[in-house]
Amino acid sequence: MCGIFAYLNYHVPRTRREILEVLIKGLHRLEYRGYDSAGVGIDGGNSKEWETNSKSIQLIKQTGKVKALDEEIHRQQDVDLDVEFDVHLGIAHTRWATHGAPSPVNSHPQRSDKNNEFIVIHNGIITNYKDLKKFLESKGYEFESETDTETIAKLAKYMYDNRESDDITFTTLVEQVTQQLEGAFVLVFKSLHYPGEAVGSRRGGPLLIGVRSDHKLSTDHIPILYRSCEFTHTSFITHTDLSLHEAQFMFVNMLAVIEHTNRVIFLEDDDIAAVRDGCLSIHRIKRTAGDHPARAIQTLQMELQQIMKGNFSSFMQKEIFEQPESVVNTMRGRVNFENNTVILGGLKDHIKEIQRCRRLILIACGTSYHAGVATRQVLEELTELPVMVELASDFLDRNTPVFRDDVCFFISQSGETADSLLALRYCKERGALTVGITNTVGSSISRETDCGVHINAGPEIGVASTKAYTSQFVALIMFALLMCDDRISVQPRRREIIQGLKVLPDLIKEVLSLDEEIQKLAAELYQQKSVLIMGRGYHYATCLEGALKIKEITYMHSEGILAGELKHGPLALVDKLMPVIMIITRDHTYTKCQNALQQVVARQGRPIVICDKEDNETINNSSRTIKVPHCVDCLQGILSVIPLQLLSFHLAVLRGFDVNPPKRFAFAVDNLNRNLKQLAHR
Ligand code: UD1
Ligand code: BG6
Repeated sequence: MCGIFAYLNYHVPRTRREILEVLIKGLHRLEYRGYDSAGVGIDGGNSKEWETNSKSIQLIKQTGKVKALDEEIHRQQDVDLDVEFDVHLGIAHTRWATHGAPSPVNSHPQRSDKNNEFIVIHNGIITNYKDLKKFLESKGYEFESETDTETIAKLAKYMYDNRESDDITFTTLVEQVTQQLEGAFVLVFKSLHYPGEAVGSRRGGPLLIGVRSDHKLSTDHIPILYRSCEFTHTSFITHTDLSLHEAQFMFVNMLAVIEHTNRVIFLEDDDIAAVRDGCLSIHRIKRTAGDHPARAIQTLQMELQQIMKGNFSSFMQKEIFEQPESVVNTMRGRVNFENNTVILGGLKDHIKEIQRCRRLILIACGTSYHAGVATRQVLEELTELPVMVELASDFLDRNTPVFRDDVCFFISQSGETADSLLALRYCKERGALTVGITNTVGSSISRETDCGVHINAGPEIGVASTKAYTSQFVALIMFALLMCDDRISVQPRRREIIQGLKVLPDLIKEVLSLDEEIQKLAAELYQQKSVLIMGRGYHYATCLEGALKIKEITYMHSEGILAGELKHGPLALVDKLMPVIMIITRDHTYTKCQNALQQVVARQGRPIVICDKEDNETINNSSRTIKVPHCVDCLQGILSVIPLQLLSFHLAVLRGFDVNPPKRFAFAVDNLNRNLKQLAHR
């Protein structure tokens, strides 16, 4: 995913070297998202007067890592790094190629013309760029890159060249540009015509602004300026924006501001944020019903070390090992182990309504979907409601009927996954109550759902989701417990599960102590082409999730197979060469799992079995086992997935893949394209 980082210093003097350091560091913080090229746009010129230097813009772009860009910057003969700027905007970008191969010319910033009158950085895809390009070409604009983004920069120049008045503000210009764009975007613009000014906008992707100033901020909220009344407002400018004598502003699409400031503003779709003369203002074209009249300046409760790798070789490994603590954080202040009660502050005002509903629908993508599959059975048991678990993309493709008496859950680590967000809006339109299970406070899903539960697992930086899965699992179990807290008949079962939650962190630690053994297993498997993972009941989700992790980060084929389906086809794949992992635990499916084991062994398969450490029967019947501690049946899936998280991590390392960040996949592009098409049809 593309990363965006813009840095504006206003009356905080900075040398060009310092500015570039901030930009490069910002890009480093975004590196984990995966990218293939990077670039920066800064003021050019080497005069002693910073105002003179802002009369030209210099672009430096490079294929490959941010380090390569940094080296390219230091190779520039004509860039004096000691020149000081009292006011300056620098914009920087990491690009993940979608339109055109990775190359300096396709990297961002993209420009309007050879003089760099307007430059822009972009995350997302503009679906109507071909039409815009055709139009601009017919007006004589010449394109140099294959990107959709270049049309945005050229459109800005077109609007400027054809402006009705010489007083047109940068904000109005960007407003005119974004009105022509279809698709998804997060944008930050810089222009020769508006030196020291920054304008950013978003639609369908996150954009936040960090503000740092030694002075106390004059307000906690920034009121929205609507185009129709902009002029009235400008005369009272200090009441309608955040005005500072000296400040630094960062525009980013991820958490990359945290080392500079914890004061941030999350923008909404179609907001246009502008910084001019030290004033931050937020604009919208028109007011619509339900619009919040202001954007809050929030304080991020996150420390830098929380998003650093520490002693681990990758974020994924760090996050796997954080699970004993992250599940505690999910339960903190919510589960009382003394009196076996559960309180979810985010649901307390809605729980009665949820209890009256006719159906629960859990909607998500990828790992988050598996968290729904994993907890479906216990939700059905404790709520006595029909529970559907849906992949967001398929749910939308089917135009699934949704009713007012449905309760729809949206499970998402990031809270920004496009399909899940579209499904949320779809369910809202149909009058269902929407509930978020999200990790990211302030994310679109967290904000747009009627209510929800933050899983509080801490930032998940690794693209392969691990600790978020186990925390989503725990959050959904807590919800199931809450739904039946006044039903006498289920109290023994509730107590059993709550006491299971109490010992869970220690049991997770015990599973993590198998790391070395699993690393050895990975050494035996890493040259294989494929791995099958089989199980049933509570562990079907573990099979799907284990196989997804293996595919996602090791590029090995892997399939999660429901053991009950073995005889209906998949058994044909089993022979003495095919690596098979089976999950067998002592629950209601035990005998059936033993049968599956026999079937695999009869085909000369030599399965590696993840089983209960006290299950002697399975241990004696299997050539290879990974022994995990016993837990209450519906929580056992948390313990059975961890060996597979560790296995996929070690397989990836042995196969020579950079776990941090993993490469992105074509499906993500397909997904985005599909979402955009759906957006266009809605
Ligand atoms: C909240 C506070 C927490 C504090 C606790 C003390 C926040 C984010 N959480 O936690 O810091 O320690 O009270 O009482 O301020 N929500 C959604 N959709 C989602 C997730 C959440 O709408 O996807 C809503 C909830 O309905 C709730 C709010 O966001 O209104 C906060 O949710 P959550 O953090 O789960 O609430 P608490 O656990 O009560
Ligand atoms: C995919 C990730 O892009 O999105 C998966 O590769 C993840 O790991 C999925 O599970 C859904 O993400 P989220 O943020 O909605 O849970």
